[in-house]
Amino acid sequence: MLDQHIADALPKAWMRDDWFACDAQVIRHYQAKAAVVAAIQPKTGIEIGTRCGYSLLSFHLASPQTHWLCVDGWVDSDSMQCREHWKRLVAEWTIHAHVMRIDSRKLTELPAADFAHVDGDHSYAGALHDLHLVADVPTILADDCDNASVRQAVEDFCASTKRKAAFTDDGLRQLAVIT
Ligand SMILES: C[S@@+](CC[C@H](N)C(=O)[O-])C[C@H]1O[C@@H](n2cnc3c(N)ncnc32)[C@H](O)[C@@H]1O
Repeated sequence: MLDQHIADALPKAWMRDDWFACDAQVIRHYQAKAAVVAAIQPKTGIEIGTRCGYSLLSFHLASPQTHWLCVDGWVDSDSMQCREHWKRLVAEWTIHAHVMRIDSRKLTELPAADFAHVDGDHSYAGALHDLHLVADVPTILADDCDNASVRQAVEDFCASTKRKAAFTDDGLRQLAVIT
């Protein structure tokens, strides 16, 4: 049911001419992410790296009552279009979400939350910093663990905080669920 909702919604929600194309593999990737949120039904969530809002929309379909705090510096060449698209998606789907436009490296703390999605800066130092920003969150989903720098950051974060990471391959990327 949730998988079908996501498969129906995402192609319609996609930004026109996005270089990141919406195909079956990409939809499967967002279904895998949304399944994590569906199992938790968090009251509050944090998303570091929200871009156009595709993962945010998938999470919203999995758990419509969740209130989200999103962080994005919108640092890429297409970020202004992504930002406008994010605003449209949040309004159209009535997603309970606020966004802070800031380079996460300037942040020293974030509020408490039940769930966090870390998908912003994919450098080792950036990913490690973002993980520590949400270190008190009980479930953290880290994307792009097929990237060696991100994987190392997740492993080092888990070693220093005594947490466990379960890695899965969704066919597009490797995800880590950190508990
Ligand atoms: C991979 S995209 C996020 C994709 C989104 N989670 C999704 O699946 O739909 C990464 C985003 O992180 C942002 N970003 C990269 N480095 C950042 C930093 N240091 N602080 C804040 N945002 C950053 C980029 O501008 C981009 O919008």
